Amino acid sequence: MAGCKRIGILTSGGDAPGMNAAIRAAALMGRAAGAEMFGIEEGYKGLLKDLIAPIDPAAIAHILREGGTILGSARSKEFHEVPVRDRARATLAKHGIDGLVIIGGNGSLTGAMKLADPAELKGQPLNVIGIPASIDKDLALTSLSIGVDTAMNTIVEACDKIADTATAHDRTFIVEVMGRDCGYLAMTSAIAVGADLALFPEAGKPAEAIVDQIVQTVLSIRGRQKKARKVIIIKAEGVNIHIDKLKHDVDAKLRDRAAAGEVAGIETRVTVLGHVVRGGRPSAFDRLLGSRLANVAVRALVAGQSHKMAAWMPPVELAPEIGQRSPADPYCWLVDLATVLHETENLLTGKSPLARWRAGAFDDIESALLL
Ligand code: F6P
Repeated sequence: MAGCKRIGILTSGGDAPGMNAAIRAAALMGRAAGAEMFGIEEGYKGLLKDLIAPIDPAAIAHILREGGTILGSARSKEFHEVPVRDRARATLAKHGIDGLVIIGGNGSLTGAMKLADPAELKGQPLNVIGIPASIDKDLALTSLSIGVDTAMNTIVEACDKIADTATAHDRTFIVEVMGRDCGYLAMTSAIAVGADLALFPEAGKPAEAIVDQIVQTVLSIRGRQKKARKVIIIKAEGVNIHIDKLKHDVDAKLRDRAAAGEVAGIETRVTVLGHVVRGGRPSAFDRLLGSRLANVAVRALVAGQSHKMAAWMPPVELAPEIGQRSPADPYCWLVDLATVLHETENLLTGKSPLARWRAGAFDDIESALLL
């Protein structure tokens, strides 16, 4: 495949801190490699609205430290339809864009595959390379995606603050964190903040069992340590019970236990961190990760590669049909995009070895948290 000469960059799906670092590095590396670089606003929607303009790397020097994405982002369900993708391809052809860097998560990378499906391209030159960016940490074949580190730090900072007030008032807090169907952020942040319990969807527990688990945790901590000043429970948003119902059911059971004299009256409080987890200045690591993955992605396009994702993994060996280590960066790989999406599906449905390992590890951690 011929090397790309005019490369568009777009960010799609939920924004993730560090996307701007990737945009900046892609623009710089592309220019250095002799390509013309374009920014596409509003994700895939920008292709339908023709929101495409050349990027001047000098004008975006400052964006490295900013959260969100200067290009804007969107979720574009309409991209499931071929005529819509045809319109998007026509816009790219009009601008002579022959390469795309797609920065986003699972849905965005699926969009990239469809947009550059050779059967639909009908000869139009269009190479695509994905960059994993999602706070959820639910993409396969990369050990991290842009935004996870910052999101985790944000959760830890928030929980540390919650722990201060929880301790002052002798309270039990249930803190809900983002992550869609993936419990990674809940579990890792529970370790980092020393939470008393982490609830994650991979455990597949029914709602009632979750309520009982919280009540048991509270009773065992209060029962054992009369002076325990707080209980912190971290719940992944993907856990199958709405946070309001969870609080209601837990409070009801705790009231019953208090009426039976098993425990003093306990007040629970709920904090839903929500989109706070997705915002904020990217950590140093996310800036570095975005920059390094973008470097590899753009070099791949200029070298004529396509249908790959730039991935972050320790320098181990992979089967050559799955991935080749980037000559530019030993921690960065170019992995086959179709395999990434297939393995991500397996990860999310619990079928992959990594999913099984995570569920087991999360279980072990859960038992260890119950001191
Ligand atoms: O995928 C990133 C994410 O932040 C998830 O953790 C969350 O479930 C979802 O996006 C929220 O999406 P939206 O911003 O569209 O409400």
